[in-house]
Parts: sequence; structure tokens; C-alpha cells
Amino acid sequence: LNEIQNIVLIGAGNVATHLGLAIQKTGRSILQVYSRTKASAMQLANLLNTEFTCDPEAINREADLFILSVTDDAIREIVGKLNLGQKMVVHTSGSISMDVLWKCSENFGILYPLQTFSKSRSVDFNSVPLCVEANSKDNLHLLEHFAKELSRKVVEVDSEKRKILHLAAVFACNFPNFMYNVADQILADKGLNFELLRPLILETAMKVQELKPDEAQTGPASRGDKMILQKHDELLREYPDYREIYKKLSEAIRKLKSKWEIYE
Ligand SMILES: NC(=O)c1ccc[n+]([C@@H]2O[C@H](COP(=O)([O-])OP(=O)(O)OC[C@H]3O[C@@H](n4cnc5c(N)ncnc54)[C@H](OP(=O)(O)O)[C@@H]3O)[C@@H](O)[C@H]2O)c1
Repeated sequence: LNEIQNIVLIGAGNVATHLGLAIQKTGRSILQVYSRTKASAMQLANLLNTEFTCDPEAINREADLFILSVTDDAIREIVGKLNLGQKMVVHTSGSISMDVLWKCSENFGILYPLQTFSKSRSVDFNSVPLCVEANSKDNLHLLEHFAKELSRKVVEVDSEKRKILHLAAVFACNFPNFMYNVADQILADKGLNFELLRPLILETAMKVQELKPDEAQTGPASRGDKMILQKHDELLREYPDYREIYKKLSEAIRKLKSKWEIYE
């Protein structure tokens, strides 16, 4: 089985940036970066000290692995423009099935990093769970071997299970982050500083490293504190959308809580 040594990154966003840096650390080469716009292709190519192109025709076909890390909606469009023959190609999406890749190569798979990435923030890639899947046993071995050099947490996950992981990740990461945004806005409107909430946010995340989420749940809805719920409802009058979210979430917490109480 051939090793993966040379890689082309297709897409130059958050994930491509972090993957590119992690791959280089293992001593492998990023041959080229392709992206839709020159500015982002050039920015990542400069960071990785490599070449770039914005022309799908000019993508370097010499690589051992092509990593497609573009927005989910663009995956199909790019796949239609690539003809990679037998070259190994993977995408990094949580919710797009592996089979979209068969049109561009005979050898394909998934390299889904279960972490939140922003270009501006460094991550310890070694602890990022990497979910892998491939269209043959050989390709799976090849990909697993490659992934294990990048992270100590490599798991084989099929496309159906990956979609569920992605769904859970939206609840565990994207929604809480939106809640931080809401908190920030409510505080800022009253001249208060978000900084005061940072220890609370950190402790909330740290707690579930040891406790199960249902054991860690606190707050007025969990306690069934009707007076506070009513007060918060009044305070939220000027934010009808957030008022609705508060109500729905509080109801959901109550429902779950009574379910636990029945089972206890
Ligand atoms: N960010 C995360 O936390 C995260 C975590 C795990 C998995 N993922 C998955 O990884 C993939 C990339 O996510 P990301 O956060 O890195 O996205 P991103 O930062 O928004 O970058 C998207 C990249 O796709 C390119 N692109 C968008 N539309 C295109 C099109 N029509 N044709 C060609 N290129 C196009 C953009 O090119 P230009 O910049 O040149 O316009 C950009 O380089 C997605 O499938 C996402 O679901 C993301």
C-alpha cells in the first residue's frame, strides 16, 4: 500500500487552514492550494509556503491525496469539475454522504474532524477526533494510517452515523455559541460586560467533562422556579425572538427533567 506524502488542498477556509498546518507538521508536503478566490487561495498558500491556483483545470494531479474542504453546498459543484482518475480524494463535511465523490475518482473517503475551527484560532490537532470512512478496505487502511499521524483519536464512522454526530455537534457547539451571542447582546444593551460570563461559560464546559449533561443541568427551568421564569419572560419583552427561544428551551428542560424524575 502506497503512503500518502503529497497533498493538494481544495478550499482554503477554516478547516483547510488547520488541516494544512497539521499535515505539514507530520513532514508531508502540501503541493498546492486551490480555492475559488485568489485572495483566500494565496493567503493559505503563503501560510503553508506553497503554490496556489484558482483554476480547477490547473489543479496539480501529482498529489497522493486531494482534500476537499469547501462549503457543503459547493462539494457537488467541485466534484463535477474534477476528474482525478484513481487518485484518492476525501471531503471533510459532517453531513454530505461519501458517495458524492465517486464521480471524480475511483478511490475516495471521508476525513471529518469533529471540532470547531476558525482560521484565527489555533487548535491542538492531535486531540481532534478524526472520523474516517472509505470506499474500500485498502483505502480505509491508507486513510487511517494518514489520519493517525495527525491525531491520536481516529475512529471509523459510516456516513449515516457521521450525519448524526454532526447533528449532535450543532446542539453541543453551534447553538451554545449562538446563546453566547444572545447573552453578549443582552449585556451590551444594558452596559454590562460579556467578560463577566467567561468563567461561567468555561465551568459549564468543564463540568460535562466529568458529569453527564443531565446531572450538570441547573437554572430556573430545571428547578421549576416559576416566579423567575415569569420575571425573565417580562425582561425579554424587547427581544421577541429570544423570548420565544427562552420559553421553548425552558419547556424542553422541564419535559426532560420530568422524564428523568419518572425514571429515577
Ligand atoms: N469550520 C468548522 O468548524 C468545521 C468543522 C468540521 C467540518 N467542517 C466542514 O469542512 C468544510 C469546510 O468548512 P470551513 O469552515 O473550512 O468553510 P469556510 O471557512 O467557509 O471555507 C470554505 C471554502 O470553500 C470555498 N468555496 C465556497 N464555495 C465555493 C464554490 N462554489 N466553489 C469553489 N470553492 C468554494 C471557499 O472559497 P473562497 O474562500 O475562495 O471563496 C473557501 O475556501 C465544510 O464541509 C464543513 O462542513 C467545518
